[in-house]
Amino acid sequence: MDNFHPEVVAFCCRHCAYAAADLAGGKRQPYPSAIKIVELPCTGRIDVVNILHAFEDGADGVLIAGCLDGSCHYIKGNLYARQRLDYVRGLLCEIGLEPGRARMINISAAMGVQFAELASEHVETVRALGPSPLRRKINQGEAT
Ligand code: FES
Repeated sequence: MDNFHPEVVAFCCRHCAYAAADLAGGKRQPYPSAIKIVELPCTGRIDVVNILHAFEDGADGVLIAGCLDGSCHYIKGNLYARQRLDYVRGLLCEIGLEPGRARMINISAAMGVQFAELASEHVETVRALGPSPLRRKINQGEAT
């Protein structure tokens, strides 16, 4: 699948991951252009429906990037996000999508290098899984 260019939606908390992605860019620490960042005030704002919509809209993978454990500015937002992600991974299994397409990472604003590494790692995981079956349906006009 050399010509497969995955698209990964990254829901990033503005207090940590978004800043880390910015830092990575500033330090010229590249991460794949496959990563499409959506800034959130906290990963606790992410809902099950948001994650599913990303896949419905053609994403091959989803990354949720929140603050380190114990460092969420809204106390438990990152814990709620992880619970919702775990639930979504179960749903993905039920509809025939690999749960590995969705992942959560926890980083601080100072971890630009780690953001780039973990984002690249997830893109490679998704690349190995191949195009999302939902994406193929969208391209073929089968999805409604
Ligand atoms: Fe960053 Fe909640 S403020 S995950």
